[in-house]
Amino acid sequence: MSKYWSHITKRIEPYVPGEQPRSTSVIKLNTNENPYPPSPKVLDAIRQHINEDLKLYPSPTADDLKQAIAKYFNVNEKQVFVGNGSDEVLAFSFLAFFNPGRDILFPDITYSFYPVYANLYGLNYREISLTEDFTIPVEQFYDAPGGVIFPNPNAPTGIALTLESIERILKHNREKVVIVDEAYIDFGGDTAVSLIPKYENLLIIQTLSKSRSLAGMRIGFALGNEQLIEGLERIKNSFNSYTLDRLSLAAGKVAIEDVDYFNETREKIMATRERVAKELKNLSFHVLDSKANFLFIRHDTVPSKHIYEKLKEQGIYVRYFKKMRIDQFIRVTIGTETEMDSFIQAVKSIVQN
Ligand SMILES: Cc1ncc(COP(=O)(O)O)c(C=O)c1O
Repeated sequence: MSKYWSHITKRIEPYVPGEQPRSTSVIKLNTNENPYPPSPKVLDAIRQHINEDLKLYPSPTADDLKQAIAKYFNVNEKQVFVGNGSDEVLAFSFLAFFNPGRDILFPDITYSFYPVYANLYGLNYREISLTEDFTIPVEQFYDAPGGVIFPNPNAPTGIALTLESIERILKHNREKVVIVDEAYIDFGGDTAVSLIPKYENLLIIQTLSKSRSLAGMRIGFALGNEQLIEGLERIKNSFNSYTLDRLSLAAGKVAIEDVDYFNETREKIMATRERVAKELKNLSFHVLDSKANFLFIRHDTVPSKHIYEKLKEQGIYVRYFKKMRIDQFIRVTIGTETEMDSFIQAVKSIVQN
């Protein structure tokens, strides 16, 4: 604590990201990155853009990237906002759509950045308890005083809501913004994009970090009606004109356009997830039904913290959350087939000893 800190700096509790080990020999299953490289076309686009133009600022409006996203989702360009990772898009959205003094609702077990943004901006929030089986209790999100935010599928559970449930939440919050954080939607959930024309209070946020293997470039986006997007542009242009650099703009556009590569890699990840889930069940793990690129698992008898620590000793990183209700679980990102074979082997020796 320093006497020079502002009241806000003193008050906030920053988010703590998962470990990023320096060693390249570890099997990294702790931060939900994609185990496959970005599309070769993306790497070519980046190489082509390493040129003298880097002396110039990038486009402040990111029109080419927005166009590619709009075309892919069959929406209008003015319904697309882009930012430096979906974390930035989330941070701008809290400021653009939520007001102090009125509770925002989000699940008690969810992406732990939400309370961090709320505290940063002095917003009030209420955490809604997930049911016993870790699903979102839809009715409890009706008539939210300040607005709603939840991931679909939820993190770290991986459990997805149906579009019908999402529509019920939207219908019961017509005067407030409902943000659906679809960071993991491409691994088996149903995107709510089709609901945009019907619900002017719907904002969808997605990222290129997971299903398009670009966590290292920081590209996220939001989709929603034009007025919501204009609100986000107002906030962004009050922070930083150029949130995405030239290389990210080029990479993002091609990553969205290379649909074949995207489908190939996400299908491989989903197939590996189903295979690993089955093997874990055979080893007496309780495995939540995941529609994401990770599994949330608990062993019948061996404590999760022990499994987490033993795996780490063997160079396999998974995520353990020291938080009520979920401290019996570990979250395991789906890696390549080979990485997951090593993980299963290691886990087997831990739980069978
Ligand atoms: C639910 C959820 N939303 C958003 C993000 C942020 O993703 P990024 O900032 O890389 O786009 C994450 C990252 O792990 C996440 O789990």
